[in-house]
Amino acid sequence: MNDAAIESVPLYTHNDRIAKGLAALGIGPDDPIKPEQAFTLDQMNYHGTDAIKAAAVTLKLGPASRVLDVGSGFGGPARYLAHTTGCHVTALELQPELHQIAVDLTRRTGLADRVTQRCGDALTQPLPDAAFDAVVSWLTILHIPDRPRLFARFARLLRPGGAAYVEDLCMRAPFAPQDLSDLREFVYGVSVTSIEDYIEDFRAAGFTEIVATDLTGDWAPFAQTRLAEFRDNRAAYARERGEGAYADQEKFFAVIAGLYNVGSLGGVRVLARKP
Ligand SMILES: C[S@@+](CC[C@H](N)C(=O)[O-])C[C@H]1O[C@@H](n2cnc3c(N)ncnc32)[C@H](O)[C@@H]1O
Repeated sequence: MNDAAIESVPLYTHNDRIAKGLAALGIGPDDPIKPEQAFTLDQMNYHGTDAIKAAAVTLKLGPASRVLDVGSGFGGPARYLAHTTGCHVTALELQPELHQIAVDLTRRTGLADRVTQRCGDALTQPLPDAAFDAVVSWLTILHIPDRPRLFARFARLLRPGGAAYVEDLCMRAPFAPQDLSDLREFVYGVSVTSIEDYIEDFRAAGFTEIVATDLTGDWAPFAQTRLAEFRDNRAAYARERGEGAYADQEKFFAVIAGLYNVGSLGGVRVLARKP
């Protein structure tokens, strides 16, 4: 699989939906944006800023903290962390189009002094060793084919005593062939494994104090509600952001909801420490 494949995942198409969503709030293309206004549009995770706030509390982030956000998308989690804790975040995003939108949102929210946007692959992007107090990542590692190599990088990038905080999809039961095909094609889920394998990969990379929390009981109903509410809101969403944007988002949400429904897909949070 190559980058072109990830760009066709229906969650990552029609990215002008962000600008259209801002326009619906009365915010023009070059207008300043309050960070709180952006937070309603820029999160691609479960529970939006509530999930990011929980990480900030767990990791005890403050103005002196240096954080790496892997797979930063439109930059929403990175901006939330910087805005609410004063920490400095390096926000690393693979897809140039998403990265450019993130750069624009970060500038217009006035957070560019605390959020450094980088465009590159988490497996290869040059970054300084032992430079981060925390590496955080929401719903990204499923896309990255070589998790052992990625976690070895996390270990090198963290200072001793630093922590990795990850939320991601996981596998609860083997995927049926069609489900696996949907997971690859519509989600670009190239490394979705059991929680045990997830823990083992952290352990093999040298992490200790590994705490994994199964989030499936929360995320599975979240995904069903998200789909139902999205469908209920079809007319307004399509009017504001376009029929194509509606169709692609709906496809993504429906595939995910279906995978939870059959019991194969799950969610996991892992907190792990570099000794
Ligand atoms: C579901 S989005 C989540 C974005 C963000 N974490 C959030 O919660 O809003 C996953 C992001 O990871 C990015 N990504 C995937 N593989 C990556 C890699 N190897 N390096 C950096 N980013 C990557 C994708 O392009 C996508 O923007």
